[in-house]
Amino acid sequence: MKRTLLYLALICGAMAASVATAQTDPALYKALGENAGITSLTVDFVARLKADTRFGDMFKKTNSQNLSDRLAEQFCVLSGGSCKYTGADMKSAHSSLDITKGNFNALVEDLQAAMDAKNIPFSAQNQLLAKLAPMHRDIITQ
Ligand code: HEM
Repeated sequence: MKRTLLYLALICGAMAASVATAQTDPALYKALGENAGITSLTVDFVARLKADTRFGDMFKKTNSQNLSDRLAEQFCVLSGGSCKYTGADMKSAHSSLDITKGNFNALVEDLQAAMDAKNIPFSAQNQLLAKLAPMHRDIITQ
């Protein structure tokens, strides 16, 4: 009985340690450059969105600092960093914007260009994009 309890304690400890490791040492989060890398990526990404004429006025009134901060939180969570996303859910954030598939693809292109500019490895770029792709269901409404 004592032995069983000891094993249980050891297994729980190992599980807790592996969860802690997963949150603090994830490969994708590291490949994106951790908090500093992700923040500089989203600042550049938002600047590209604002400058991209394909979006017309869509980002004209957008507060760049807020969008960049929310995106940084989101990318951090998605890549396995220990952050918290504090923004609106994707459906509510985009429901009134009439976003098309073309808009979505253009945004992905700008994100790829921003990741290239930061020399983020291609495999990490693809991993992040794969995590973002399913969000199209909540974002594209046209
Ligand atoms: C995977 C794709 C996308 C992600 C992860 C994403 C993420 C976000 C996030 C985190 C916010 C901030 C929400 C908040 O402030 O609480 C936001 C807002 C916004 N998004 Fe997206 N978005 C995506 C696609 C798009 C597309 C395709 C467009 C249109 C071209 C778009 C246009 C906007 C606009 C206009 C805002 C509001 C900015 C403001 O004025 O505050 N998003 N998005």
